Amino acid sequence: MFNNFSKKKKENKDRFETLLSNGIIEWSKNRMEGFRTLMAYYRCAIMEIETKLNVLNEQFSLQYDREPISVIKTRLKKLESIKDKLEKNNLPLTIESMEENLNDIAGVRVVCSFTEDVYMIADSLLSQDDVKLISKKDYIANPKPNGYRSLHLIVTVPIFLANEKRIMKVEIQLRTIAMDSWAALEHQIRYKKDVEFTDEMAAELYHCAQISAELDTKMDRLKNMARR
Ligand code: GTP
Ligand code: MG
Repeated sequence: MFNNFSKKKKENKDRFETLLSNGIIEWSKNRMEGFRTLMAYYRCAIMEIETKLNVLNEQFSLQYDREPISVIKTRLKKLESIKDKLEKNNLPLTIESMEENLNDIAGVRVVCSFTEDVYMIADSLLSQDDVKLISKKDYIANPKPNGYRSLHLIVTVPIFLANEKRIMKVEIQLRTIAMDSWAALEHQIRYKKDVEFTDEMAAELYHCAQISAELDTKMDRLKNMARR
């Protein structure tokens, strides 16, 4: 009796602490644990993809004496952004719904030296028999109206736990250094606090995107000249 009472009290305390510390969602302790576990699985999936990319980079640099991947950046979507996205799409805020409906909880951004490297890395990764392509958006061949360029892949990759194998979704964005710097600056300018994003700014950014695309074309040409 005493034990039960104190157990209940501890549970309440934990729940309260969870609410306080996350301050976003009123979840039970069980549900919060389920969420933490799911996030750990996504972190593992990110590690799997990152290792595969590092292996490809290593092999390529041995073969050709240069590295096709300049930087790999990874991110796990925050609970707050997960909640916003589910709410925006009128989807339930449950662990199952997150896993089912969101493709970008695990995100990997691969910044390559040249445009050719983007496709070469994407093709090599997709040819691996444990990586399955769910969807591909080629904003390099077909840039967004604002000028944004990148190759987006949604893939699944297995993670191997002590007693089970789990298939996890990962969003991979591949881009060149020029595409990456444009996207980073565009994001900064577009979302600058208390500053209106005008048509003129959009037009200027679009112009910058064209210059950045031209830079990539010229760089690819230079690389091919250097190969001869
Ligand atoms: P989300 O719901 O935002 O994930 O978009 P989506 O499902 O339509 O996918 P899309 O492939 O269009 O974009 C996914 C991600 O690509 C975004 O979360 C950004 O990281 C990046 N992205 C897409 N468009 C732009 C853009 O115009 N500018 C910048 N800076 N990043 C972009
Ligand atoms: Mg997204």
